[in-house]
Amino acid sequence: MNSSLSADSFGLDASKLPRHIAIIMDGNGRWAEKRLMNRIKGHEAGSEAVRTTVRTCREIGIPVLTLYAFSTENWQRPKIEISALMTLLKKFLDSEQKEMMDNDIRLNAIGQIEKLPAKVRNALTKTKDLTANNKGMILNLALSYGGRTEIVDMVKIISRMAKDGKVDPGLITEEFVVNYLYTAGMPDPDLIIRTSGEMRISNFLLWQIAYSEIFITDTLWPDFSREELIQIILDFQNRERRFGNVY
Ligand code: IPE
Ligand code: IPE
Ligand code: MG
Repeated sequence: MNSSLSADSFGLDASKLPRHIAIIMDGNGRWAEKRLMNRIKGHEAGSEAVRTTVRTCREIGIPVLTLYAFSTENWQRPKIEISALMTLLKKFLDSEQKEMMDNDIRLNAIGQIEKLPAKVRNALTKTKDLTANNKGMILNLALSYGGRTEIVDMVKIISRMAKDGKVDPGLITEEFVVNYLYTAGMPDPDLIIRTSGEMRISNFLLWQIAYSEIFITDTLWPDFSREELIQIILDFQNRERRFGNVY
């Protein structure tokens, strides 16, 4: 697939595409409650929005898409909701393998993967292995992910290296430490989107979003559409990014 041609066909400027889009997929519970349905129905509807979003980003030619699917704090939710989310996640991985292979998408996961139930870990390993050589887009799922934990994990690795004499603390730089974040090797998100109108970051990618453009929409995640995503990317392309400089 020729990514620049695809971006053009969506009315987007192919030379100014975000290299990485990160999404806080929020509002599944409220979507269901509005319809007097169980919250779990909201998560089911949300997984359809995930499919649409992955497909659209791939077609546009976005190199990395990170989806916040489960936070370290989400473990505090009722057991029945956690278990439904884990089952949905496994279903998603199993059912999307073909789509990922057909569209050259590589799956990656960030977060405390070891805390996930075995059925999810196995499906993740299987899908990651299967898609390991795909080059079209990285689909990065944030699972049992917390930005603070990620930074603590980085500190642990680097302090062990310092203790073993493998790094001189005086020479530690920003460029060095990013190699020990879960997102090592990926560009920082250019664009972060949150659905359902909440004006907060909820422990997502704390280091990486230092200069991301933020877009918050009132749309609840299950209603998030291909058209809205394209509108948001258009809005992004019209913003002036300054990175602390003057223009
Ligand atoms: C987002 O929807 C999905 C997860 C956090 C797993 P929510 O479940 O947070 O939905 P609301 O915020 O209660 O509406
Ligand atoms: C953020 O949503 C986490 C995910 C989307 C996975 P939450 O619904 O957990 O965030 P808060 O509780 O509103 O901050
Ligand atoms: Mg929420």
